[in-house]
Amino acid sequence: MADILKSIVRTADLIKTLIFYKRSISKLLGVPQKEINSVYAQLYASKFFMDIKQKVKVPLALYYLSMLSPLRAPLLYLICRITKPEIVVETGVKDGFSSSFILFALEMNKKGRLYSIDLPNSQGQELGPDKDTGWLVPEELKPRWSLILGSSDSKLPALLQDIGKIDIFIHDSDHSYQNMIFEFKQSWGYLKAGGYLLSDDITDNQAFADFVRLNGCINSLRLFKSGIAIR
Ligand SMILES: C[S@@+](CC[C@H](N)C(=O)[O-])C[C@H]1O[C@@H](n2cnc3c(N)ncnc32)[C@H](O)[C@@H]1O
Repeated sequence: MADILKSIVRTADLIKTLIFYKRSISKLLGVPQKEINSVYAQLYASKFFMDIKQKVKVPLALYYLSMLSPLRAPLLYLICRITKPEIVVETGVKDGFSSSFILFALEMNKKGRLYSIDLPNSQGQELGPDKDTGWLVPEELKPRWSLILGSSDSKLPALLQDIGKIDIFIHDSDHSYQNMIFEFKQSWGYLKAGGYLLSDDITDNQAFADFVRLNGCINSLRLFKSGIAIR
């Protein structure tokens, strides 16, 4: 019974978020809703999007819960198209949905670089033996990409020290409270003023809520399971 109730609440939350998300994002990013619509429309009409859809074949019933939902990988595309970042860092690559959509945005912007950290395939990946980390990323988008294999606690501090200031950080690796706080703290120190901290699966625990409360972000937003905070 408790599980059925939880699932009803989650579905209601998803529907409510989907109805209002463009208005919320438009407010957060400070751009008219018209611009948000036009960036999404451009993405959905692109060959890039058709090719990804073709490769992953998400069943229609699961579309809004998948990485192709406008609230997930396409949201990363939108934020990168609107904010035009120089440097984006993400943890958690797996198939490479997030990496592909960010890289497509950087390519459309004609500037920027993405640094991605994930464990080597053998350690904890759920990809299966025939797939490499980030297998979805189109070859032509790889020149703007650095993929670093290792755990975020071993690779993130040195990477950030090496690249210096960043525009966007995206967490989607190990969602334990401890690791989320670790990655948020590490990246926050390197985020430019007005930079974006994004996290997937913020409803798994209180890490994002605690971090936002304790670190004086200028603005923050929860969109279903994702969180966005502005430094
Ligand atoms: C939810 S998936 C990422 C999905 C990806 N963002 C996408 O859009 O397809 C989580 C990934 O985090 C990686 N991961 C888990 N623990 C990690 C850690 N401590 N450091 C780095 N990556 C980790 C896993 O190997 C897995 O590929």
